[in-house]
Amino acid sequence: MYTVAIIGAGFISTKKHLPAWLRLRRDVRVVAVCDLDRSRAEAVSRQFGVPAAYDDVEQMLGMERPDFVDVCTPPSAHADIAVAALKADSNALIEKPLATTVEECERIIEAERGSKGRVGVAHTELFHPRVIEARQRIERGDIGHLTGMRIFYSTPVTLWTTDPGHFANRLPGGSIGETGPHVVYLSQAFIGPIRDIRVRGRKMLPEYPWSPFEDYRLELVGDHAASSIVLTYTSKHSAFLLELWGTEGIIKIDMQSKVLVNYDRVNQSPWGIGLSAVGEAAQIASGAFANGFDYLAGRFRNIHDRTISEFFKRSVNGLPPAITSEDGLETVRVMSVISEQLQSQAERMDSPRRQRREQRERP
Ligand SMILES: NC(=O)c1ccc[n+]([C@@H]2O[C@H](COP(=O)([O-])OP(=O)(O)OC[C@H]3O[C@@H](n4cnc5c(N)ncnc54)[C@H](O)[C@@H]3O)[C@@H](O)[C@H]2O)c1
Repeated sequence: MYTVAIIGAGFISTKKHLPAWLRLRRDVRVVAVCDLDRSRAEAVSRQFGVPAAYDDVEQMLGMERPDFVDVCTPPSAHADIAVAALKADSNALIEKPLATTVEECERIIEAERGSKGRVGVAHTELFHPRVIEARQRIERGDIGHLTGMRIFYSTPVTLWTTDPGHFANRLPGGSIGETGPHVVYLSQAFIGPIRDIRVRGRKMLPEYPWSPFEDYRLELVGDHAASSIVLTYTSKHSAFLLELWGTEGIIKIDMQSKVLVNYDRVNQSPWGIGLSAVGEAAQIASGAFANGFDYLAGRFRNIHDRTISEFFKRSVNGLPPAITSEDGLETVRVMSVISEQLQSQAERMDSPRRQRREQRERP
């Protein structure tokens, strides 16, 4: 039996990570929950039937010596916790992003070199069944050569834009630091290493002054294809849409309903367009029904379940993690350029405002 300790007892650990580890109960025992907020650690350990609660990571590591540590804290705490876990020779699964800076990632990689433990990064969307299917189709040549991709990601405004205390509003560059890693590692999975990065943030909602931007347009360019991304935090609706196109075909994925459509519009006559629209509607309906049946039949596995069980199984079989610390570093490298560009944009926007304020305040 292997042991795991969960660090961070907030949203993602209680909604996804703890339930996923508990589903591995034949091989794994969750022995501790650790959170800076002791009362939260105690409440969550009671809720999930975990024997111990801690508010200090080092103390927890010393007492429990867990085989696995699952890091579900805000990104700014990832590096210190990962290094401590690796020093204790635990395997560490770390929620995205691996850390907030390249230097922090390098510290983790250095600690991993001297440890028996391995680091896996929870780039969960890479375990999405339709993403896996799309990658297989592209590898088989079903859409010819991949020439581009597009992502539209809408995070409901009420999730954190309206909340001045949410950590996402304090990340470098603002909310993009929270959802941005998902679209960056997805782009890297399809178009390979990113050679050029352009981002533009827009401040759309002045009623939330704590959030630097609520609309981001991002262009990531690889060697043979580019990824165009819109991230918005302005709508009450959520959406996560992915499109991939090649010389021979187009794939569209609704990441939330998990429906993949093979888009076919070579014939541009009114009949051709009509038939293509009906074909698209039929694929959406059959995909949604199939997913609905899986859900009702209890066959539905969410992407965190897949990420966690894959990390666990690979570790105990002596295989390297599917998403390594080096992969995590590559994503953080791109995120760092994005946040640098956004910070200099914010400074440029801020300086005329500051000059006007200083002029007004001059005696
Ligand atoms: N993969 C996904 O879809 C997804 C979704 C949401 C969040 N996340 C990621 O999960 C992580 C946590 O996000 P969340 O929304 O659950 O945050 P949260 O604020 O809800 O919870 C974080 C918890 O960590 C605790 N904490 C902070 N610093 C700590 C430290 N040094 N030691 C111990 N506990 C500490 C806080 O007290 C809090 O209870 C982030 O990296 C975030 O990007 C991933």
